[in-house]
Amino acid sequence: MKFTTSPLPLPRVKADAVVAFVPQDKKLFSAELAKHRKRFGKRIENAVELANFTGKPGECLTFLTERKIASPRLILVGTGEAKKHAFETYRRAAATAAKSARSAKVKHLAFSVPAPPDGAAGVLTRETCAQSILEGAELSLYRYEKYVTDKKEHKEKIADITLCDLDAKLANQLKEVLRFVRITNDGAMLARDLENAPGNELYPETLAAAASSSARQHGYRCEVWEKKKIEQMKFGGLLAVNSGSDRPPRFIILEHNAGKKDFETVVLVGKGITFDAGGISIKPASGMAEMKMDMSGAAAVIGTVEAAARLALPVHLVGLIPSTENLLGGSAMRPGDIITHFGGKTSEVDNTDAEGRLVLADALAYAEKYTPSAVIDLATLTGACVVALGHHATGMMGNDEELMSALKAAGERTFERVWQLPLYEEYEPQIKSDIADVKNVGGRWGGAITAALFLKKFIGDYKWVHLDIAGTAILEENMPYAPKGGSGVGVRLLIEYLRNHLKK
Ligand code: BES
Ligand code: MN
Ligand code: ZN
Repeated sequence: MKFTTSPLPLPRVKADAVVAFVPQDKKLFSAELAKHRKRFGKRIENAVELANFTGKPGECLTFLTERKIASPRLILVGTGEAKKHAFETYRRAAATAAKSARSAKVKHLAFSVPAPPDGAAGVLTRETCAQSILEGAELSLYRYEKYVTDKKEHKEKIADITLCDLDAKLANQLKEVLRFVRITNDGAMLARDLENAPGNELYPETLAAAASSSARQHGYRCEVWEKKKIEQMKFGGLLAVNSGSDRPPRFIILEHNAGKKDFETVVLVGKGITFDAGGISIKPASGMAEMKMDMSGAAAVIGTVEAAARLALPVHLVGLIPSTENLLGGSAMRPGDIITHFGGKTSEVDNTDAEGRLVLADALAYAEKYTPSAVIDLATLTGACVVALGHHATGMMGNDEELMSALKAAGERTFERVWQLPLYEEYEPQIKSDIADVKNVGGRWGGAITAALFLKKFIGDYKWVHLDIAGTAILEENMPYAPKGGSGVGVRLLIEYLRNHLKK
């Protein structure tokens, strides 16, 4: 999709449809309608009344005119109460309008960029408004249609979005915004494509191939370890989980600004289980297909490093992805097995379905070699996290409050919100093993926390945050601008975090 700007006001911009945002506040509501009366006459007021359109969030009303004007279709979309206006208001309103426009076969859609009303929350400016509009509109139109022969995309597709009614100065400022959203949306949609790809297409080798092709295209480094190297490096967790699969494992290392000594190093670690059947401790059949998305952490890491490289962020950004399937072939690991991880620590496997932490343990221990200023891991790690937080917040645990509050703030702005859970030492006895350094499950209660405490045993001397994205990455229902399936969560969050962190 192409983003452009235009100085022309709504009625004169050439597009198949134009969108106007209508607040609920009576005065602002009438002021906005007045702008369109010239084209649509008294009819607009009648229609608004007839449809009981009052500017509430989610409301959407379309007008058509036969008059020969540049844009014959007007879409009004409600934005609700002025004091509640925030980035998310415009993402959702733009999403509502974009989806409605697409079903009306609109090819070229224009938005007026509103000046946020007085009293709007946070740091809303016309620039951040424009950013939110482009995010919500394009992300809401995402579809995974690779394997559908009769593609809807052939019949209805919005190819261009224009932000209009801009003076020269603002249009110039928005150039950066357009480029930024182009890149972060691409990152998020790449992550969605990887998540939604089925397990027979996407497995460790092909995940690695996708990562190296992104690296080649966007000029960052990608190194892929095959099984032999993983054995030499003694990544015992990755090898143990892989032992039940006929497909070999991969360890993927992505690097933006490799070797640039004056940049600080941030390491991202992503769980790359391309399908999780649970291993010998097999999962129930119902819902197992979702486990093709158990590599959502890896997808977020690839999407983020790609976006960071395209944005040329001044940071040495490393992505580490341990990748394997978790199946139950004849040489699969067994409950009771003991694994020696990279770095020498051991774990007792009590349940082979707690495999994510086993592969992450190796990667987190390995991350130490970069002497990073921060390590952030992303993993669809526990069902317990979904029970605790549902689909609207990522579980966050870590050892550095400052890093966590920065991520929390980035989460509020991007609406990829994170919520901290405690890592109290009182939970630790649950993962004590009598015969190894740690046990891979901690019983029924506090499962998201005991999983994080397991990871904590393997981290080095660095600031660390663990993001459990089990609920936010895998959507069972449509969200305002994410259809059900893989959400691509993490990319916008991490880029926002990095961008702000690097300003300081
Ligand atoms: N990939 C799953 C976690 C998961 C569950 C993600 C549901 C998304 C939706 C993970 O590998 C797993 O199986 N965890 C187990 C851990 C348990 C055996 C301690 C779980 O959550 O049941
Ligand atoms: Mn599992
Ligand atoms: Zn898993």
